[in-house]
Amino acid sequence: MLKIYGKMKTTISLIKADIGSIGGHVKVHEKIMDMAREKLRKEHGKLLIDSYVTRCGDDLELLMTHTKGVNSEKIHKLAWDVFEEGAKIAKELGLYGAGQDLLSDAFSGNVRGMGPGIAEMEIEERPAEVVIAFMGDKTEASAFNLPLFEIFANPFNTAGLILDPKLHDGFKFEVHDVKGSRKIIFDTPEETYDLLSLIGLTDIYAIKRVYKKSGEIAAVASTEKVNLIAGRYVGKDDPCMLIRAQSGYPATGEVVEPFSKPFLIAGWMRGSHRGPLMPVSEKDANPTRFDGPPRIIGLSFSLKKGKLTGPVDLFSDVSFDEARRKANELAYYMRRHGPFQPHLLPPGEMEYTTLPQILKKLEDRFEKL
Ligand code: F6R
Ligand code: MG
Ligand code: MG
Repeated sequence: MLKIYGKMKTTISLIKADIGSIGGHVKVHEKIMDMAREKLRKEHGKLLIDSYVTRCGDDLELLMTHTKGVNSEKIHKLAWDVFEEGAKIAKELGLYGAGQDLLSDAFSGNVRGMGPGIAEMEIEERPAEVVIAFMGDKTEASAFNLPLFEIFANPFNTAGLILDPKLHDGFKFEVHDVKGSRKIIFDTPEETYDLLSLIGLTDIYAIKRVYKKSGEIAAVASTEKVNLIAGRYVGKDDPCMLIRAQSGYPATGEVVEPFSKPFLIAGWMRGSHRGPLMPVSEKDANPTRFDGPPRIIGLSFSLKKGKLTGPVDLFSDVSFDEARRKANELAYYMRRHGPFQPHLLPPGEMEYTTLPQILKKLEDRFEKL
């Protein structure tokens, strides 16, 4: 038999959905997680090489490694089946929001546009590959714009951009206009100001991928907007992303550094408020205060021929205690504003609003100034 010797490529697929949770939009049930683990484990050595199942708040997260490439129908179908079965369990237990992110009754070859969030990359593994998975709850896809910029383009965050010859050339950013369905690629540091003029507008632009100048993938984020997909509010587009770290990429410590200084993002209660993104360990991803504050977990894996070792639960480190304290302080400060901006999002960004009905009711009472 003819054997083709080439470098094996590994695909890492992180696919997530909110298919129901305990006691409100808070926590995925262990029974659902066990079912997901079991269903994916059965595919090890067949469709998958390896897998890891976790959750961030009410979002079930499936991390899978395989050789099928990105957008594989078989892999997406497997994830869809897990979500459907999870939704069934959620319904049986009377969990809240059962099946909320499954916008279609039938799988049509790809989960893109059907509700789940997806971050996938196909890589040629380095001898000691490091991949970090980030998962957020009660926030939106473009919440990763600021940290991705800092990780890959800000030398005040990433010392390697200055100190490591392998990073010194900079990176390429693929930015999606999520409302206009178009994309554009920027080179940094050359086009840093053009890039920043777009990605600061987080309601319109989301960083989808980051590449090395030589073309290898460095990061990928989910940019699905569930509320836009359905044309009406049906659930949050809580994001996930994958980032490669070390030797030619930012170090693990440079990748987590932006989350040590909490910043404000859109999401939180009813997807209609601005609040701080709080980095927490896997076990602490249970957003309850005003359904928040928004959470992020970060898990770092080593990868060899698709086999996952780990993870290290990055934000369980005590060095993030201060970030959590600051995020809590910011949460109190923002909550002080109640239904006022800037805590409340502007009308176009709110995922729940009664404004059209109220304006209609008051229409006759408005007088010309
Ligand atoms: C935000 C979120 C929650 C819900 C809120 C109301 O992403 O999931 O803040 O919006 O708990 O939920 P419903 O409308 O389902 O009662
Ligand atoms: Mg939910
Ligand atoms: Mg969620």
